[in-house]
Amino acid sequence: MEKILVLGSINIDFVSFVSRYPRPGETLVSNDFGIFQGGKGANQAIALAKLDVPTLMLGKVGKDILSDFALSSLQESGVDTTGISNSQKNSTGSASIWVNAQGQNSIVIYPGANGEVDEDFIIQHEKFFDDASWFLTQFEVPLKSILLALKFAKKHGLKTVMDPAPVREVGNNHIWELVDYLLPNEIELRELTHTENTLKAIHILKSRGVKEVIVKLGKQGAGYEDKGTFNLFPAVPVEQVVDTTGAGDCFIAGFLHGMIQQRDIPRAIKIANLTASYSIQKKGAAISFPNKSEIDWKKLE
Ligand code: RIB
Repeated sequence: MEKILVLGSINIDFVSFVSRYPRPGETLVSNDFGIFQGGKGANQAIALAKLDVPTLMLGKVGKDILSDFALSSLQESGVDTTGISNSQKNSTGSASIWVNAQGQNSIVIYPGANGEVDEDFIIQHEKFFDDASWFLTQFEVPLKSILLALKFAKKHGLKTVMDPAPVREVGNNHIWELVDYLLPNEIELRELTHTENTLKAIHILKSRGVKEVIVKLGKQGAGYEDKGTFNLFPAVPVEQVVDTTGAGDCFIAGFLHGMIQQRDIPRAIKIANLTASYSIQKKGAAISFPNKSEIDWKKLE
């Protein structure tokens, strides 16, 4: 099967489950608390590996106890971690997360070692671009490194996929011309294009050079533009939304799994909706992602 190279963040998530978000100056008691594997890069790599897609991750962890947690959760899920190194200066990236009664989250990240994934790191790891077919990244490591890695991906003939999260200003550096598939959510789409109109936003991104834009719409599902029409694929209904943290990461892995199998965007979006529906029914990010054998694939028909 085609191999995926993931460049991105590796965090440990400290999650408080609350009935509502606290007001400034207020102390709230949470209903539950958990320490989970997170980081958009690690989450997407783990979700792919759980779907049996060969996945190698490039990134950095700290020189601390959290790094053991991160490396073992990646390895136990089947991610090849030979492209991950330890920082000598920084702690492992972390995220403080509140999840409310509706399963929505608020996240504050501390990049730590993720911030050290610099251009030298990418140059030292260029050999890993050789035997992969797809390159996947997000916006949780430095932008210059993402840009260089996308250039290497194109040089080595990989198809490129980007999750533009957390959304940021990219400047005029031609990054979009290097992106084959961009998967923003509604907020990211609006921030990147300064328009509320989904079709117009997609056209703006395509005019900048992105080949395909798949828009994640949360409980509405997801869609893409084909011949001037926005095609929506509804989300898979679930009994209860417990925690949406990482659902977008799980969606992206499902999408890539679908693209590798059949190269068909509508089918890949349906698979993405299905895989994401599992992740929102459990607490935590990576730990909530389904193994390929757990998925009821009949739901696609
Ligand atoms: O996408 C969810 C992830 O965003 C969390 O796991 C957190 O670590 C942040 O990177």
